[in-house]
Amino acid sequence: MLAPNKIKTFQSRLLNWYDNQKREMPWRKNHDPYRILVSEFMLQQTQVKTVIPYFKKWMESFPTVKKLASASESNVLKHWEGLGYYRRARNLHQAARIIVESHSGSVPTDLEALRALPGVGEYTTGAVASIAFDVPTPAVDGNVRRVLARFFDEERPDPAWLRRVAREILSRDRPGDWNQALMELGATVCKPRSPRCDRCPVSRWCSAYALGTVDERP
Ligand code: ADE
Repeated sequence: MLAPNKIKTFQSRLLNWYDNQKREMPWRKNHDPYRILVSEFMLQQTQVKTVIPYFKKWMESFPTVKKLASASESNVLKHWEGLGYYRRARNLHQAARIIVESHSGSVPTDLEALRALPGVGEYTTGAVASIAFDVPTPAVDGNVRRVLARFFDEERPDPAWLRRVAREILSRDRPGDWNQALMELGATVCKPRSPRCDRCPVSRWCSAYALGTVDERP
């Protein structure tokens, strides 16, 4: 595993890269927990560039969790039209109702309460808690899994391994930015095919890069 001072360097390099290179996204303008929740539901199975116009329109129609909770299901589904996997829309609608009825209209900060919302799994819990509330908890999606498998040259990045490693390298100071920096690196540099190691801010510490196994991981 990495030595503590190496972890610190890795973190500051990647966060610095993220500060300079991050793409503008409408849900990155502020940390309104409701906006983060909506964006993470939309991003569960859909790419960023597809999500952006849906997200903007959604926020015009349902700017608050209360507005969403009181909307009709048919109106909610209409706004999801084209995104697919409509279950996500039904779950998000239901989650908004639970937030209004059981959490006084505020997205819960507590990990267990978040996880108990319909449609919120381990990844979405970590993403919302870290991005909206700066809770130091990992959020491992497919991009992050690939980045970590390469960085540590892990042949079998199973869930237990991922959980342990993601926790170990997590930035306690900026967990939300950290999780998004890992996602961003996976989406724009450490891509599944033709990764751009020449542009990677942390290639110096990457085991797969050093060993020439990048294309075999994960
Ligand atoms: N995919 C899922 N959540 C994301 C986020 N917050 N930023 C970029 N891509 C994401």
